[in-house]
Parts: sequence; structure tokens; C-alpha cells
Amino acid sequence: MIEIKHLSMKFGSFTAVDDVSFQVQKGEVLGFLGPNGAGKSTTMKMITGFLTPVSGTAIVCDFDIAENPIEAKKNIGYLPEGAPVYADMTVQGFLEFIADVRGYSKEEKQVAVETAMEKTHLQEVKNKSIDTLSKGFKRRVGIAQAILHDPPVLIMDEPTDGLDPNQKFEVRELIKKMAKDKAIIISTHILEEVEAICTRAIIIAQGKKLFDGSPAELQGKAEDHNAVQVSFSPSNRPANFESTIKAIEGISEIKQREENGTIHYTLLSKEGRSIAQRINQVIQEQNWKVDELFSSKGQLDTVFRQLTQSGEQKGVRT
Ligand SMILES: Nc1ncnc2c1ncn2[C@@H]1O[C@H](COP(=O)(O)OP(=O)(O)OP(=O)(O)O)[C@@H](O)[C@H]1O
Ligand SMILES: [Mg+2]
Repeated sequence: MIEIKHLSMKFGSFTAVDDVSFQVQKGEVLGFLGPNGAGKSTTMKMITGFLTPVSGTAIVCDFDIAENPIEAKKNIGYLPEGAPVYADMTVQGFLEFIADVRGYSKEEKQVAVETAMEKTHLQEVKNKSIDTLSKGFKRRVGIAQAILHDPPVLIMDEPTDGLDPNQKFEVRELIKKMAKDKAIIISTHILEEVEAICTRAIIIAQGKKLFDGSPAELQGKAEDHNAVQVSFSPSNRPANFESTIKAIEGISEIKQREENGTIHYTLLSKEGRSIAQRINQVIQEQNWKVDELFSSKGQLDTVFRQLTQSGEQKGVRT
């Protein structure tokens, strides 16, 4: 439903997006990740026709955004960065205006506006002027505007930015509900959001695509994927711990730290191999008195830093 081929964008001599290609199918929720200034919003602006790329194409539901912009845009719901809206309109007035722009008849308009307000829980504020609304409600108005025409393609630039935890949850549920028969791209800095709603993740940094795969594959790249943490109180720390553990096949590194009087060992596994069961066995055999034992799937934060930090160090992008 979305096909992006070799998209590039330059501002003067500065390359903001550098030869990015990917596709998004129906049923996919693509999490678009990357550090500040990576080129996420710029890419979204090119897909939705707000910026003309210096090279490459974006095709939405078989319509090239440059050649058939009106047809392509009919199929797109877009929540731009910061969710800009006409602040002096009422919520209902603004959504009716959007429905007019989208060419709805009077009857269709009523149904579309009501449905969008219902999905985003805006009915209680529908007669309020948008500038009097809180940040979270303003964002919901932006989301209502994006989904008003029930588009097959949704592009949302940080849809949950600035929302309280309840509202974040609601917006994520709404996206999940809509996902079945749409192709959705969301950009986010919240890595838990990727786990919660995305079927796929793309990481870009300095305008270049660095990763494209499932959230599980992304986690699998984390240095702490399948790592095991074992904690001891100082009196129970076994003298032979490190030497015994080192002898186990599949362990690449042992890290140690002390916190509030407890000693925590993190045992990293070679190439993310599963080591938890063997370690548990050894603990039983040795009769060690362990305070805490758990295995980690890997932190998305860790892999995000691993993948993007080398890029960031090359130059500061604002
Ligand atoms: N109109 C513009 N003129 C000049 N430079 C621009 C313009 N728009 C974006 N840029 C630059 O392009 C780069 C990419 O910006 P973009 O807004 O796409 O980043 P982003 O990944 O969305 O970042 P963030 O996470 O902060 O929203 C930045 O260095 C930005 O300063
Ligand atoms: Mg942005």
C-alpha cells in the first residue's frame, strides 16, 4: 500500500534523507525510529506530498504522490509533527471543515465527524474552541482529522507525544484496532510503543536506513539479548561464582555491579544464545543462595543506542 523508492531530500547542501526505500503492506504498523534530526518527519512529509523529494518516488495505493497527488492524498490520513490545527475553530467546526475539504456531502459529513469524535473521545469538548483545549485533547483533534475519511493509509508523526499514560494507552488501542485493514506508519521516540503496537520497525539516523525488521529481531540485536542477571547478598556470594560461570558454554562476558548492598552479575550470552536454563542448573548443582535471577529479552533502548550512536557522534544534527 505504501512503496517508497530511493527517496532523498536535501536542504541546500545538507542531505536530510539519503536514499531511503521500503514498503508497507496492509495490516502492518511500521514504527519509524531514529534520533532527533534523523529525517523521520522529512520522510513523512515526502510520502504525504508536503515536500517534493530531490530524487526518488513515493507510491500510495498505486498512486504516485508527485504524479497523482489528489488521488494519493484521498487514501492518506496524516497527523503532522506537533499536530497543527486551526486553533480558533471549535472541535466540531474544524472537523466539519476537514470533511468539507475532503468533499463530503452534508449527511456523510455528519456521520464521519461523529464517528471520528467517538473514536478519539472528543464528544465532551466538541463545542469548545481548540485553543482552550489541553495539549492531549489538541492532539486527539489532530488524530480525529487524520482518520476522518477512514483512509487505508495512515501516517502519524509522534501520535502519542505529550499525552498522559491513559491517553497514550487509548491512542495505541485505537491504532491497534485500525491496523487490521490499513497500512500505518508512526514515528516515535518511545521504544515501548514499538513493542506494544508495531509489527515492524525501521531505524534511520542521519537520513539513512540502518535497520528494517520485526521488533523481536531488533531486540535480538541487543547486546543484552538473552542475558541472565544473578544477584547475591554479600554473605551469600559464592567464591567460585566467576570461575564456575566462565566454564559454561555460550557466555561471552560477565559484568558486575553493586547496588544497595546487593551484588548483581549480568551474564551476556554469545550471539544471543539461550543460556538461562544451563545457568539455573548450575545454581541448583552448586546450591548457591541466589537473591534474584532473571533473563532479559534485551532492551530496545540498548540496541537503539548501539545502532544510532556511531552516526550521531559523526556530526550534531539539530
Ligand atoms: N525546512 C527545512 N530547512 C532546513 N533544514 C531542515 C528543514 N526541515 C528539516 N530540516 C533538517 O533536516 C533534518 C531532519 O529533520 P526531521 O525533522 O526530518 O528529523 P526527525 O527525525 O523528524 O527528528 P525529531 O525526532 O526531532 O522529530 C534536521 O537536521 C533538520 O534540521
Ligand atoms: Mg520529527
